[in-house]
Amino acid sequence: MIATQSAESEPTVMIVPSVLPADFSRLGAECERLTEAGVDRIQWDVMDGNFVPNLTFGPDVIAACRPYTSLLFEAHLMIDRPEETLGRYVDAGCELIIIHAESTRHLHRTLTKVTELGAKAALALNPSTPAVVVESVLDLLDMVLVMTVNPGFGGQAYISTMEPKISAIREMINNSGRTIDLEVDGGISNRTVSGAASAGANVLVAGSWLFSHTGGLKSATDELRKLANEARRRVQ
Ligand code: DX5
Repeated sequence: MIATQSAESEPTVMIVPSVLPADFSRLGAECERLTEAGVDRIQWDVMDGNFVPNLTFGPDVIAACRPYTSLLFEAHLMIDRPEETLGRYVDAGCELIIIHAESTRHLHRTLTKVTELGAKAALALNPSTPAVVVESVLDLLDMVLVMTVNPGFGGQAYISTMEPKISAIREMINNSGRTIDLEVDGGISNRTVSGAASAGANVLVAGSWLFSHTGGLKSATDELRKLANEARRRVQ
């Protein structure tokens, strides 16, 4: 389990910014700004232009930003054949590695490699990938990520039809007896966060709404966390 406050036993959610909307010309300073805003972790959206139709950054950029904050870095690997390079993201300082079920031929072996390298392992599911995929590797996981957009870009609309899948995975986690985080990523805002949290998410990733909030990053983070905690309390 990742050293987090969040567990099913207490409605304390985590707010995790995606750096996709950040100022790419000053990512180190942006990590400092996010830390000061009180976010819980930082997500690096790694895209290779093949698994998703967009290209972002690799391990060297993440490593350059590592000294700017002590927050946990999670690498969301939206890349083909992640088994070939995931070790470089661990070496770059990412404590949590997120593998897409659709990106690797041998998912169980790839997730096992993550933990063998000393990192925490997470499984990401695209919108069309069913929850049942989680069952056979649940024992390997520290987190499950349910995508509520089709990956590749920020600023897309939240896909609310993913909420039953979120609930089904929350039930799997609760029945497992293990403390596994359930993260939701894509279109999270003040209007959608309650639906995701009520369905079972305890970790919320936000990009465009967070960075465009007129009150600034701290106000945005506090607002999302408050709404999500209230939603979790209502269902527990
Ligand atoms: C999409 C990324 C998301 C995205 C979130 O592929 O994985 O993390 O950046 O951005 P918003 O919050 O704008 O949907």
